[in-house]
Amino acid sequence: MTKSIPRYLTGVATLAIIVSACSSAATTAPAATTAPAQPTQAAAGKTYDYKDMVVGFIQTGSESGWRAANTASFKEAATTKGVTLKFYDAQNKLENQVSAFHQFNQDPSVNVIVLAAIDVTGYDEVLKEAQANHKLVVLEDRRIDADQSLYYTYIGSDFIEEGHKSAAAMCDLLKDSAKKNVVEISGAVGASAAIDRAKGFREKMGDCGITITATQTGNWGVPESKAVMEAFLKQTHDIQGVFAHNDEEAIGAIQAIKEAGLKPGVDIKIIGLDATANGFKALIAGEMNADIECNPLLADQVYEAALKGLNGDTSMPKWVPSNEGQFFAAQGKDALEEILKTRKY
Ligand code: AHR
Repeated sequence: MTKSIPRYLTGVATLAIIVSACSSAATTAPAATTAPAQPTQAAAGKTYDYKDMVVGFIQTGSESGWRAANTASFKEAATTKGVTLKFYDAQNKLENQVSAFHQFNQDPSVNVIVLAAIDVTGYDEVLKEAQANHKLVVLEDRRIDADQSLYYTYIGSDFIEEGHKSAAAMCDLLKDSAKKNVVEISGAVGASAAIDRAKGFREKMGDCGITITATQTGNWGVPESKAVMEAFLKQTHDIQGVFAHNDEEAIGAIQAIKEAGLKPGVDIKIIGLDATANGFKALIAGEMNADIECNPLLADQVYEAALKGLNGDTSMPKWVPSNEGQFFAAQGKDALEEILKTRKY
């Protein structure tokens, strides 16, 4: 019987990992090369500091303005705190993430692994391998369907709540409209952000009789979402709202609506998610009506949690939801421009 080759050995042989060493620590890997299986090291008397932390960071890719801000927050905070960061961009391929995870598991210098999961499943083998190799695992941004004993904590958004907020905003925008046909441009298939936002919206849309008449992924990007909206408009113009899972998807829809001779934000109400600078510009232009925030600046919380974990702190909850707001074109151009000046992304 041929033994099945674990998924992580079928991936790319060598991976492009960018190491940003804040201090010479990177060259002299900390003595304790075998980090604890979760928080047991403290028992062995070693107290970790940020300069002892070598983080293997597995990013999804670079699919959106949100993602760029998320990546920047990890690189900047690593430099500020003195953490050695080994950054890996998986180009939105699950197999690349699994291979990178395996490589970090095998890297004796790495004591913390941070994962922004592309998919909700597919990580069990490498999570178990991490536990066997005493790597502390922290999930950031996206949740996964794995046993909680396989990771220290998850720091990220309540995507279902973001879906609830989106439905409530759309109900308010369509309160005077006899018809409430909404099309959905969803995030990448398999991503917890997409699955949970869709679920949250559907849990609340019945409050005002919204119907989702069409749904398709825009893969978090402008051009693909524009094509999706063009196809929806070819089918019918009997659309009163667009629920887009991020700002790039909303901007793609806006472009298609304009090219169809309709007024985005007026003829068709638009809701985006993330509240990035580009989302704010669409709000200020009145082409997007509401933008539900998703906070990408998670690095400080993640590094603080990882340090607690390395030092044996067992009081960390398994999920630390992010603090997030929402913004409306109705707040007015001046007010939104003032807010935009204060934002980092
Ligand atoms: O997981 C968060 C989502 O990922 C953001 O909403 C989207 O822009 C990014 O790609």
